[in-house]
Amino acid sequence: MPIYHKLGKIPHKRHTTFKKPDGSLHYEQLFGTIGFDGMSSLMYHLHRPTQVKKIVKQYSVKPKVAVENNMQSFRFHGFNIKPENDFLDSRKVVMTNSDASIALAAPKESNKDYFYKNTDSDEVIFVHRGSGTLKTQLGNIKFGYGDYLVIPRGMIYQMHFDGSDNRLFIVESSSPIYTPKRYRNYFGQLLEHSPYCERDIRRPEELEVHDEKGEFLFKIKKQDEIHELIYTRHPFDVVGWDGYNYPYAFNIQDFEPITGRVHQPPPVHQTFEAAGFVICSFCPRLYDYHPEAIPAPYNHSNIDSDEVLYYVDGDFMSRNDIDKGHISLHPAGIPHGPHPGAYERSVGKKETEEMAVMVDTFKPLMLTEDAMKIADQDYYRSWLEDEDK
Ligand SMILES: [Fe+2]
Repeated sequence: MPIYHKLGKIPHKRHTTFKKPDGSLHYEQLFGTIGFDGMSSLMYHLHRPTQVKKIVKQYSVKPKVAVENNMQSFRFHGFNIKPENDFLDSRKVVMTNSDASIALAAPKESNKDYFYKNTDSDEVIFVHRGSGTLKTQLGNIKFGYGDYLVIPRGMIYQMHFDGSDNRLFIVESSSPIYTPKRYRNYFGQLLEHSPYCERDIRRPEELEVHDEKGEFLFKIKKQDEIHELIYTRHPFDVVGWDGYNYPYAFNIQDFEPITGRVHQPPPVHQTFEAAGFVICSFCPRLYDYHPEAIPAPYNHSNIDSDEVLYYVDGDFMSRNDIDKGHISLHPAGIPHGPHPGAYERSVGKKETEEMAVMVDTFKPLMLTEDAMKIADQDYYRSWLEDEDK
C-alpha cells in the first residue's frame, strides 16, 4: 500500500543497533515483494524469526479442476458452501487460473491455534457476513460487513471472528494487489478523481507484542501445498516496524461511485488491480440522468476477460433471479447482458441499492469440483424468450 506507515518503536537509522532494555539487540527483518524492488517494510523482532524446530508435514490444497475449458455461463449458489469449523478447511476454491483463485468460505471458528501464511498469493478477503479482528505480525485490524481485507503475500496472520456465522469471498492473487494506476500520481498519492482516497484505507493500529517461548504451529501455503512447521517463538514479537508493505482494510461502502448522464462502463467501478485481473465494486448509486438513458448495462462481449460477479446486497437491476451470495460467471468469448425485461424495466429508474464485487480475469477461469456442486446448470439459457424455451 503506497502510504508510509509505522507502529511501535524503531531505531532512528535502519540497519543499526537497536537495543532492548537488557542491552541485547532486536532482530531486523525486511518484509518485501518483487525482490528488492517492490513495497517493503522493516520490522524489529524480540527474537530471531528463523527458529524452526520441527517440520511436521505437508499436503496438497491444490484446487480440483472439473472444467478446464469453459464456454458456459453459470450461476453459483455461494451460500450453499457448507460452514466448517476450521478457517483453512472452510476455504473452497471455485474458480482458478494462473493469476487468481476465487474462493468462498464460511468458517465457524477463529484460527487461534495456528498461524497462517500464504506465500503464493496476496489475498483479498471480502467480508460478507461476520466481524472480528485480523491479527497480524504488523498489527491488528478490526473488520466487519463490507470490508476488503488486503493481505500481502508472506504476512503471518490469524482471523479472530466475533461469532460463528461468517461468509467470506476470497481472491488469491499471484501478483501484488495495487490501487488502480490511473488513480495514482507519480508519487503514489490517490488523485482527486479516484473513487476513494487514503482516508478510506484502514491501516493496522494496535501492535500486539508477544514475548512467548513454546511450540507455535505455522501453516504455510507454498506451491498449492500447506507446510506445517513448528517455531519456538510467537511470531507476533514485533516491537515496531515501518514501511509500505502491510495489510489494510477498505470498506466497499467507502467507494464513491462515478456516475454520468448515460451508462458508465465497468472500469468506473474498479477498486484494485493485479497483473492478471481487476476487482470492481458495484455500490448503491444514482442512475444515469439523461432523460432517455437506459440505466441497465448494454449487452457486451467481454472477449478478453471472464467476468465473475459476487452479489452482496440490494436488488441487482440487470437480473431477475439473483440473490445474496450468488455468483455469476460470464465467460470470455460470448456476449452477455440484462435478463429479458430488465433492460426495459430500468428506463426511468432513479437509483439502485445493488452491491456487488466483480472480478474480471484476463485469462479464462477453470471451474473446480466445489464450484460444480453449487452450480446452476440451466443458467446459460436464462436469456431465452419464453417462446424459445
Ligand atoms: Fe458484464
